[in-house]
Amino acid sequence: MEEILSVADARRAENVGREITLQGWVRTRRDSKAGFSFLELNDGSCFGNIQIVADAKLENYDSQIKRVSPGCSLTATGLLKESPGKGQATELQATRVTIHGTADVETYPLQKKRHSFEFLRTLAHLRPRTNTFGAVARVRNCVCNSIHQFFQEEGFLYVHTPVITASDCEGAGEMFRVTILDPVNPPKQGPPVDFAQDFFDRPTFLTVSGQLEAEIFACALGKAYTFGPTFRAENSNTARHLAEFWMVEPEMAFYDLDDNMDLAERLLKRIFLDVLEKCLEDMEFFNLRIEKTVIQTLRHIVETEFVRLSYTEAVEILKSSAGQFEFPVDWGANLQAEHERYLTEKHFTAPVILHDYPSRIKPFYMRLSDDGRTVGAMDVLVPRVGEIIGGSQREERLDVLEARMKEQDLNPQDYWWYLDLRRYGTVPHSGFGLGLERLVQFITGMANIRDVVPFPRTPGNAEF
Ligand code: 4AD
Ligand code: MG
Repeated sequence: MEEILSVADARRAENVGREITLQGWVRTRRDSKAGFSFLELNDGSCFGNIQIVADAKLENYDSQIKRVSPGCSLTATGLLKESPGKGQATELQATRVTIHGTADVETYPLQKKRHSFEFLRTLAHLRPRTNTFGAVARVRNCVCNSIHQFFQEEGFLYVHTPVITASDCEGAGEMFRVTILDPVNPPKQGPPVDFAQDFFDRPTFLTVSGQLEAEIFACALGKAYTFGPTFRAENSNTARHLAEFWMVEPEMAFYDLDDNMDLAERLLKRIFLDVLEKCLEDMEFFNLRIEKTVIQTLRHIVETEFVRLSYTEAVEILKSSAGQFEFPVDWGANLQAEHERYLTEKHFTAPVILHDYPSRIKPFYMRLSDDGRTVGAMDVLVPRVGEIIGGSQREERLDVLEARMKEQDLNPQDYWWYLDLRRYGTVPHSGFGLGLERLVQFITGMANIRDVVPFPRTPGNAEF
């Protein structure tokens, strides 16, 4: 029995001369007047296809092979030869081609012509078969692998934090409720719904962040990270927001804000290096067809130091170029996406780490600075996408933390276990959250975040 090779392996010149089997889906068929056909086969192992040469002498040539169309699945066996065609090292001279499934030319939606990404979103079950979405899937996989390798090599512990939670980490009230109560006729205590009768005896939600639980492990075992899906019920119909997205959240005992920024910078550079090395063919595609600067941008970033700038300094820069913006810039207010992008795209043309934000606009857990009005926060901003990382040094002082909670109308009793970390053996510690989809968006140059997640969840969309 001939060995089954991936298309990626079969495209390597070193395998010429071997009898092999290939399995995959046909992208195109071309017939030669000389009495044979070329089938372009892709199996997802790499961006490129391999050409199968199917001779008219094959027993199913007229009955099946001549009818092969885009989307057909097949297994082909034969001799791997050096290809005379340009742009490919090898081709398969088939001795046997078995068709598994045909794809009706009249109805199969992915014929050769290019489709818009909007249209392909309505075909999330088929779009992984296109060049772009295959490449996105491989880059996303490479990024995840790189993230795990980085943290494992750095001695971090991978912890699984819960998806269902009773606490709102970001305090923004943008949570999806988890309930088994009958929505038509919920149990009531007077007018309000009686969540004491719900599955968990209390109101519960899908988590917006695994940070609070990651802190528990960092405050016991040193360095931990959680990496999983997070959920936000904000009604943002933008190219950068999903209702369900993945976030990697490291949390480190004994790290201050500078250590935190150093770690974020090293993590990002490591991911970019890995993608450039392991997914170069996919990246060349993005560079050619999606965004002409992606490779150059990543190469440049791995060699340059990120700009580090306080929020206060950023506001001064923005104020002196105020005419450009739709929204005003004022110390104490949240920066808008246009401001963030101006800093990283125009002013510095480099990743920027903004730090020390006004306490009023940041969550309760961020460490209050000595000035009493800023917190040890940091956001990493990159060109085109804006914020990809948000993090901070954490407030490790019990009294300050309690005061900050009350300021933000949170009940410290609801967070009793979080406060216990400060009651017993508290330590300075820090962490951040890196949004996986924003990161993949930045790397690939894909304009819309819905096209870098396999099955986007956004307001009004939960098909597939
Ligand atoms: O800045 P955020 O809200 O920070 C936190 O959740 C912290 N608890 C993280 C931590 O310190 N452990 O979110 C972190 C990152 C953002 O920078 C962004 O990349 C991504 O998560 N993000 C989103 N990505 C897609 N869709 C959304 N709706 C997102 N909201 C945040
Ligand atoms: Mg943020």
